[in-house]
Amino acid sequence: MLTGGGDCPGLNAVIRAVCRRLWEDGHETVGVLNGWRGMIDGNLEPLGYGEISGILPRGGTIIGTSRTNPHKLEGGVDAVKRTFEGLDALVAIGGEDTLGVAARLSAEEGLPVVGVPKTIDNDLNGTDYTFGFDTAVYVATEAIDRVHSTAESHNRVIVVETMGRHAGWIALMSGIAGGADYILIPEQPVVYDDVAAAVERRKARGKKFSVIVASEGSELPGVSDEGEVDEFGHVRVENRNVGETVAQEVEKRTGTQARATVLGYIQRGGTPTPRDRILGLRFGLKAADLVASGTWGQMAALHGDDVVSVPLAEATAELKLVPDSWYEVAKTFFG
Ligand code: F6P
Repeated sequence: MLTGGGDCPGLNAVIRAVCRRLWEDGHETVGVLNGWRGMIDGNLEPLGYGEISGILPRGGTIIGTSRTNPHKLEGGVDAVKRTFEGLDALVAIGGEDTLGVAARLSAEEGLPVVGVPKTIDNDLNGTDYTFGFDTAVYVATEAIDRVHSTAESHNRVIVVETMGRHAGWIALMSGIAGGADYILIPEQPVVYDDVAAAVERRKARGKKFSVIVASEGSELPGVSDEGEVDEFGHVRVENRNVGETVAQEVEKRTGTQARATVLGYIQRGGTPTPRDRILGLRFGLKAADLVASGTWGQMAALHGDDVVSVPLAEATAELKLVPDSWYEVAKTFFG
C-alpha cells in the first residue's frame, strides 16, 4: 500500500486494518515508501506485526508520503509498472491527486489497484466523508473557541484561516460549530463590505469583538492566482495570505483592530479523533476485501453509515464542493 498527498490523521489506522485483514488469508503486506515516489524508485518495505504495532493513535503515516505524480515524470509510468511486477495488488490511500493517478493506472494500464479516500479537506466525490476531516474540524473548532477569549478581551476582530484550497468544508463546519460571526469559503464570493457589516451589527448590539473563519482557498477580490504550483498543478494558496488580507480589509472598513491566525499544519497533524480512527479502520478493511476478491479500480466509500465501494473514476471525476444549502445554514448565524 502507499500513502500520497498531504498527511492526514487516520492514515495509520487504514494501514493497520489492511494488514490485519489480509494476514488472515495468509497474504503478505508491504509499504511503498513516500507515495508514488516509492513506486517509481521501487522503494518498498515489508509491513509485519512489529511495524504496525502501536500505530493506531499516531498522526501522519508510517510509510511516508509525497506529492509525486508519475504521469508528469519522464518514464514515470513505466517505472511504476516495473515495481508492480513484484506485487499482486496496490492499495492507494490518498486524495484527488493520488487517487487520480490510481484511477488512470487502473483504466489505462489495467493495473490491480484499489483506493481509500483520504483528505482533511473532505472534497472527494463518491463518499459522504473522508477520514481526517473530523480531526481537522475538531482542531479548528477548538482554535476558534480559544481565540474568542482574546477577541473579546481586546475588543478585536480575529480571522482564523483554515486549510481547504478548493473546498470550504473545514472552514464551514468548524465555523458553524465554533459560532463564527462570518465564514468565507472558496465556493462563495468574498464581499468585504458584507463581512464588515456583520462586525458592525454585532457592535450595535454591544459586542465589540468578532471571530471570522476564512478558508485559505477563498477567492479574494483583486488577488490573482499566479505563482508557485505543485506537481499536480495546484496553486500554493497559502501565498494568498487570505487571513491577513481579510483582517486588513475589515479593519479598514470598521476601525476595529483586526488580527489573523493561520492554523496551517496544526489541523493536519497529530492524533486522529475516535471517529477518524474507526472510519480509517473500516475503509482499510473494505480495501483489503476488494483486494482479496480481485475487484480492481474501486474505492472504499462511506454512504450513510455503510462502507461500500465506488469506481475510482467516479470518485475522482470532480471535486465535492460545499453546496449553497450548507452555506445558508452558516449564514443564519452571521453577525
Ligand atoms: O491536505 C490538503 C491540504 O491540506 C490543502 O488544504 C492544502 O492547500 C494543502 O494540503 C497544502 O499541503 P502541502 O503544504 O503539504 O502541499
